[in-house]
Amino acid sequence: MREDLDLTRMPQHVAIIMDGNGRWAKERGMLRVQGHRAGLESLREIVRHSQRLGVKYLTVYAFSTENWKRPKDEVSGIFKLVVKYVQTELKELCENNVRVNILGNWDDLSVPQESKDSLKVLISSTENNTGLNFNIALNYGGRAEILKAVGELLAEGADQVSEETFAAHLYTAGMPDPEVIIRTSGENRLSNFLTWQSAYSEIVLTPVYWPDFTPDEYEKCIVEFQKRDRRFGGHK
Ligand code: FPP
Repeated sequence: MREDLDLTRMPQHVAIIMDGNGRWAKERGMLRVQGHRAGLESLREIVRHSQRLGVKYLTVYAFSTENWKRPKDEVSGIFKLVVKYVQTELKELCENNVRVNILGNWDDLSVPQESKDSLKVLISSTENNTGLNFNIALNYGGRAEILKAVGELLAEGADQVSEETFAAHLYTAGMPDPEVIIRTSGENRLSNFLTWQSAYSEIVLTPVYWPDFTPDEYEKCIVEFQKRDRRFGGHK
């Protein structure tokens, strides 16, 4: 572990935009889906490392509502990887007491049935676990999530809404907001990720492509976060 990492000041909730799989693959003359496959290897290590670091919530952006615009082959490749992920990782996730939540409209008609079946197994077999809360944002969009909350509040006939009641209608109900959002691959946008929850998040950017994002790179990002001065609109 890095000496400059302060384990007493770890964020409770880390969110990650796993970007750069396509460019990683292209640079190697590989197919984009091979980049996503390599990305899953990184993800496995980052989930493991989050547990070592004592992170309580880890949220990753796996598939956005905008990602449907990608070529059919790539989309179906990503959903096949979801099935593969559950096959290969479920045992270890259970042994490590990890609880998996899916954020997003994953039960939608557009999501392939075999992926939905795998996700159901993943959620139900980990729901009583009490260790790391691992959130996978899948068919997720921040604006769609806000509209889902508005729709539910209207249906309830709510005539007054506080931030707390609103947040209770988001996919992240009951969870703390992410203190830090990491984006790999040198892009510096939030891309409709955790639109409500990111209000006070520190954004940490790294040029590293997601398949090259190692536990050490992860620690560097957290060190960068720990250097920031978080004032939440107040002053010292
Ligand atoms: C971003 O790279 C990556 C994605 C949009 C997909 C990531 C999905 C997976 C790794 C599989 C998800 C499965 C589970 C179970 C978490 P990009 O394709 O946007 O890269 P580019 O910007 O270089 O083109």
